[in-house]
Amino acid sequence: MDKDKLQPKRVKDTMVTLARVMQPSDANPGGIVHGGSVMKEIDNAAGVVAIKHAGNLAVTASIDRIDFHNMIFIGEMITIKASINMAGRTSMEIGVRVDAEDLLKGTSRHVASAYLTFVAVDKSTGKPLQVPELILDSDEEKRRNKQALKRKELRVAIKKFEAACKTDTNSCINLDIS
Ligand SMILES: CC(C)(COP(=O)(O)OP(=O)(O)OC[C@H]1O[C@@H](n2cnc3c(N)ncnc32)[C@H](O)[C@@H]1OP(=O)(O)O)[C@@H](O)C(=O)NCCC(=O)NCCS
Repeated sequence: MDKDKLQPKRVKDTMVTLARVMQPSDANPGGIVHGGSVMKEIDNAAGVVAIKHAGNLAVTASIDRIDFHNMIFIGEMITIKASINMAGRTSMEIGVRVDAEDLLKGTSRHVASAYLTFVAVDKSTGKPLQVPELILDSDEEKRRNKQALKRKELRVAIKKFEAACKTDTNSCINLDIS
């Protein structure tokens, strides 16, 4: 592994803001934008952040959460802001916020939020690769990092619970998140 690639990085080094105007192909016949179209933009923006942090290829491993707060309509411009919340050994949690702007009225509203986990991978083998340490500067960054670590803990606990539950239905009662 190239040592330079593992130089610690700050959140601001890799954050991105992308924008796109919603087209008829993004929407249903009623003119409301499909959740899937927004999800693609979220995945795309988060992927850019993950690749910039890793300095390597990174793939979407899972989406821990996605919330749609408001509808989006054809002709509106969505702005997708993505930044890294947590860097593990090879995985990274990226937080994304989407706002939609009515270009004629000049009004904007928060339409979606998401947390995605990406894993850095070697292009030829597909095996996970170590990522740089994340430097946390602000209290906001530290809070987001704590929340991301807790989400990772919960995800692992839920996976264990589901696996145990599959083999023994008596284990399907308590989820150990201590
Ligand atoms: C994601 C992937 C690289 C993980 O590979 P793996 O060999 O199972 O990885 P490991 O078990 O060694 O875990 C590596 C890291 O990934 C994380 N990870 C693995 N599966 C995960 C999941 N489903 N969700 C979140 N994180 C996950 C682990 O927690 C670990 O993180 P850490 O190193 O920071 O502690 C592999 O499953 C993969 O290639 N999946 C397909 C990804 C893809 O194609 N995405 C696009 C969809 S079209």
